Amino acid sequence: MCGIVGYLGNKDATKVLIDGLSKLEYRGYDSAGIAIMNEGELSVRKRKGRLANLEEQLESNPVSGSIGIGHTRWATHGEPSDRNSHPHTNTKGTIAVVHNGIIENYMVLREWLSSEGYKFQSETDTEVIPQLVDYYYEGNLLEAVIKAVEKMHGSYALGVVSKDEPDKMIAVRKDSPLIVGIGEKESFIASDIPAVLNYTRDVYLLEDNEFVLIDKDGIKLFDENMDVIDKEVFHVTWNADAAEKGGYDTFMLKEIYEQPKAIKDTLTSRVIKGELIKLDSIKITKEQLENIDKIYIVACGTAYNAGVVGKYVIESLAKIPVEVDIASEFRYRDPFITDKTLLIVISQSGETADTMAAVRLAKSKNARVLAITNVVGSSVAREAEDVLYTWAGPEIAVASTKAYTTMLIALYMIALYFAEQKGSIREKEIEKIKSGLLDLSEKTAEVLSDTDAIEEFAKEVAKHKDVFFLGRGLDFAIAMEASLKLKEISYIHSEAYAGGELKHGTIALIEEGTAVIALTTQSALFEKMVSNIKEVTTRGANVLAISKEGYEEIQKSVDTTIYIPKVRSILAPVLSVIPLQLLAYYVAVEKGCDVDKPRNLAKSVTVE
Ligand code: M6R
Repeated sequence: MCGIVGYLGNKDATKVLIDGLSKLEYRGYDSAGIAIMNEGELSVRKRKGRLANLEEQLESNPVSGSIGIGHTRWATHGEPSDRNSHPHTNTKGTIAVVHNGIIENYMVLREWLSSEGYKFQSETDTEVIPQLVDYYYEGNLLEAVIKAVEKMHGSYALGVVSKDEPDKMIAVRKDSPLIVGIGEKESFIASDIPAVLNYTRDVYLLEDNEFVLIDKDGIKLFDENMDVIDKEVFHVTWNADAAEKGGYDTFMLKEIYEQPKAIKDTLTSRVIKGELIKLDSIKITKEQLENIDKIYIVACGTAYNAGVVGKYVIESLAKIPVEVDIASEFRYRDPFITDKTLLIVISQSGETADTMAAVRLAKSKNARVLAITNVVGSSVAREAEDVLYTWAGPEIAVASTKAYTTMLIALYMIALYFAEQKGSIREKEIEKIKSGLLDLSEKTAEVLSDTDAIEEFAKEVAKHKDVFFLGRGLDFAIAMEASLKLKEISYIHSEAYAGGELKHGTIALIEEGTAVIALTTQSALFEKMVSNIKEVTTRGANVLAISKEGYEEIQKSVDTTIYIPKVRSILAPVLSVIPLQLLAYYVAVEKGCDVDKPRNLAKSVTVE
């Protein structure tokens, strides 16, 4: 978690850092801070809470200079407070550090440094870093940082400045994202590209253990032996405007409405009627695929929920057994992995620590890894053999929407690709699904064109403390995602249940007025779901059904119905999730919640 940014150039560093931090606030917003170097003096300003609090502090106590580092924090070690905010400095206040990640052995280091006379101000793991750099400093900042990180276990992306070498900035990463922006007589570091896009489109995507030295002569990259590294420049082609709200009240709403385009973009050039599916960076051969006897889909949160849809779809089309796992569980449960296993990891950010750990575990056991991610050049993309990018564009809102629907599209494409390679289902059937996929963008736009009923229903849901989502088969997978969305942005407790499972216990919670949202888009399961709906309405529940055109008889059994356009059952998830994303959104707005930055959450979870 956390966002870091750094600047060296001719502009006012404070302004550049604040601008960069505003683009990184989605990574954490427990506190923000900057350290500025000016005429040999190192000044630190930091504040608990949102970036706006820091800006307020800077108004009354300004600081300017042409070199600086900044940070936006998601707390791990130590509560959110001014004291625990970054940047952290050494005891003498001569070295400042911003850090994203966790130093696992910080207790041992802290004890040892304390015995050497170093004084600690905060409860953070980070504070050992400037102290360590100080300990090793013998006139060369880069050398001291290299020695310091040798002592550290864990993950880090670091920006370091020092009063003793006031014209330099040092950066390094291990298991936490970091990029370097290449400008005209100015250079940047940042956790993520949007932070530098107002200034440059040319960046270096750092790998683990690559050290960066920035001074007035530009950027030099080194390995841990201080040998110079030659690195390719990555040119960013997407637009900075894409990361702005573009007229919508929130990023979440904007991203919900971007789904028709995101779906279309993700399918473009990959699915063409009458042609075999083309998945650019999936290199797995037909023979290798024949050898796969099991697929694990591993991910977290919304990406995991997409994986649940993936299981149904891959098993049904490609006829390969699939298990879906939560990444943080997978890595510690000694899963049975062989060289015949394919691990499909799904991650919007491509930086989720638990998902990355699953990748590494699978690779260590010789499994093949296929990544579905939205971020080009992300850690997941770099470490997987096969990558399928969701071309959803940057997703800023913490609550994932367009990333989810494009993950579903990616999973359909993979299932069809495998089906084509293996000949597991008839060509005619494959063609029908492809044609259905190509219609989804337009049908998504149709769902989004009329939201009155969902807005109305949201006002009712906002009054409730508990909401239940019910579905069977693929509808159950959507119930899980809808429930997560409602919880995370409206803080209403909700549960997703498989329609047939409710009667085994949870039905005890249903009483007069309980809010139930039931999905009935799966043709083969329609009647069974109607029976499950009856079970809750007879006990007094108010039911909203998400159904599809052609199933109007559902109206007799429920209070309200929202219809999605006619669609093959297997593809219904892409459409049925949309009214439920909107429901979560309007409930959160009705309750006055901060939709884009829900409490206790961060966009990218780069710690375990
Ligand atoms: O970047 P990732 O897809 O790996 O992130 C995984 C989860 O942290 C993420 O989906 C989270 O659950 C979202 N806030 C849900 O909206």
